[in-house]
Amino acid sequence: MRGPPHRGPSDRVLRFALKPIVFIALTIPLAYWGLQVYYSGQGLPNALGADAADRLVEALGSWTLRFLLLALALSTVARRLRLPWIVRFRRMVGVFAMTYALTHFGVYLVFLAGGVEAAIEDIAKRPYITVSFPALLMLIPLGVTSTRGWQRRLGRNWRRLHTLIYPAAILAIVHFIWLSRSDFTEPVIYASILAALLLERLLRRISP
Ligand code: HEM
Repeated sequence: MRGPPHRGPSDRVLRFALKPIVFIALTIPLAYWGLQVYYSGQGLPNALGADAADRLVEALGSWTLRFLLLALALSTVARRLRLPWIVRFRRMVGVFAMTYALTHFGVYLVFLAGGVEAAIEDIAKRPYITVSFPALLMLIPLGVTSTRGWQRRLGRNWRRLHTLIYPAAILAIVHFIWLSRSDFTEPVIYASILAALLLERLLRRISP
């Protein structure tokens, strides 16, 4: 039998200690890759290598997907391990996923596609990019409406709107599998994590 939920840290500890720590942790990949771009610009050794733009787009794409899965996993972990306070980080993780997605797209747009026209052509013609675009578009309203104010204004529709995270995550995985050429290890790991998270939700619906 499950015990009562853990009380967890106080509101003050959450707001003034844990949330800032999580915020900093979520900015680390962006700061790291930003620093690599700076080193590269200065002619210093860096992790970008010869195809700098490719490497940067890949890194930002991977982090977007990791944060998307983390946002979904937080609710599962909160429920299964009876740690409801963990859910308090979900909004922040989700907003970071959107920010990384926009940065991933921005770097692609400027450095890989080289402009809006070429990007539109890619979105229309290259299937792995075609599937990724709606995923990005879905994350934007989720990020924008993530505040308490929007939650109140939208009422029950807020929950409905936020189920967009599921198709967004599925499309992101399809995007990753589709663009992978030889090594499928990473996309398969992410796909398995998403499948497990979706299965847990399905089972809970069938027998709450
Ligand atoms: C929710 C939105 C998105 C997610 C989660 C995502 C995720 C990813 C991931 C995981 C990768 C592969 C990283 C690796 O190889 O290790 C990737 C690569 C890529 N993504 Fe996205 N992506 C998203 C949206 C987009 C959009 C909207 C575009 C462009 C319209 C795009 C363009 C690309 C390109 C061109 C690559 C390949 C870079 C290369 O290897 O040359 N992505 N993305």
